[in-house]
Amino acid sequence: MLQKIDPEIYEIIKKEKEREQNVLELIPSENFTSVAVLQALGSVLTNKYSEGYSHKRYYGGNEFVDEAEDLAIKRAKELFGAEHVNVQPYSGSPANLEVYFALLKPGDKVLGMNLAHGGHLTHGHPINFSGKIFNFAQYGVEEGTELLDYDKIRQKALEEKPKIIVSGASAYPRAIDFKKFQEISEEVGAVSMADIAHIAGLIVAGEHQSPFPFTDIVTTTTHKTLRGPRGAMIMCKEKFAKDIDRAVFPGMQGGPHNHVNAAKAVAFKEASTPEFREYIRQVVKNAKVLAEELKKYGFRLVTGGTDNHLILIDLTNKNIPGKEAEAILDKIGITVNKNMIPFDKGSPFDPSGIRIGTPAITTRGMKEDEMKVIAEWINRTLENKNNETELEKVKSQIRELTKHFPLYPELD
Ligand SMILES: Cc1ncc(COP(=O)(O)O)c(C=O)c1O
Repeated sequence: MLQKIDPEIYEIIKKEKEREQNVLELIPSENFTSVAVLQALGSVLTNKYSEGYSHKRYYGGNEFVDEAEDLAIKRAKELFGAEHVNVQPYSGSPANLEVYFALLKPGDKVLGMNLAHGGHLTHGHPINFSGKIFNFAQYGVEEGTELLDYDKIRQKALEEKPKIIVSGASAYPRAIDFKKFQEISEEVGAVSMADIAHIAGLIVAGEHQSPFPFTDIVTTTTHKTLRGPRGAMIMCKEKFAKDIDRAVFPGMQGGPHNHVNAAKAVAFKEASTPEFREYIRQVVKNAKVLAEELKKYGFRLVTGGTDNHLILIDLTNKNIPGKEAEAILDKIGITVNKNMIPFDKGSPFDPSGIRIGTPAITTRGMKEDEMKVIAEWINRTLENKNNETELEKVKSQIRELTKHFPLYPELD
């Protein structure tokens, strides 16, 4: 049908599907959802307006939308052990904004992790709404270890007296101690908020410490390691439920995206299975093997390795800027993103590092053996960046490998 009505968009989608099939997707925030998730996303639920919450809507005809949203909430509660869940946030950034608006007044003090050290834009960067509207103080990692130092964070919290302390990161390859963040928050009288967008899948699979039940408020995207649709949710203790719900609707959003929320429910069901646990175990195993292999080729990894799904490579000793590495790897079929490393002398547009991760390639079924060849290809590509013949060779080897890991064969 789409092919007939809009051949241009049909072709674009087809080309993107082929691209996803033919490349090694190493961006740690990306993944491939199941066909079941795609089906819910492409369903008639997109047609319905449902402002409000289940059984209290501002529009008629919501009996089935209510069922879907109730199911998504029930499954999320069971999966994470959360007291209250709001599945309506459109994405991770609005979810964080909604928490701030629920609890703060403009100008209030918040403590979050510096973007340049691995935090997210919405954790207080001055260019982002978070840093513009609220008064963010920032913590980072330590020079030398490149790790979070909880005594220093505690000290900063005592000095700054924030109303919220935000934990969680976008580019931190090590485990985060949410319990320590909770203790610090309690000591300074702050609300604790954990943004688990990157590691939500690891948490439900037991491969990372959970921020539940002690953290006051937890936000997450649903599309990264959790392998659901692009979207987010906010989970919190019951005492924050009313304020959070009000901040989401009518505070910030209008009608919920019902097709996305149904797809979230599907993803939560999938994430509660032993297969998902095994998948996440392999994600972590793959990241460790990839890290060790890269080190053998002389790559310097931030913190020396990884505890989770991502690896941050400092390319300074390889004399190649992150931007150039991203472009060359893209050319041969390895998708990565340039990234600041802690204490980077470069800028976000021209940083010294790249960030890679294993969630997407592990979904395709790749294991330790593939990690070894991928590390070899990354090294060979960057060492031969001006040697077209060598680059072509790697590209065709990648094509050959990806053929053995078909993506969405059901959709062909
Ligand atoms: C830790 C963290 N929080 C929030 C977000 C924002 O999510 P979105 O891109 O859906 O707005 C991201 C996205 O990368 C993230 O890494």
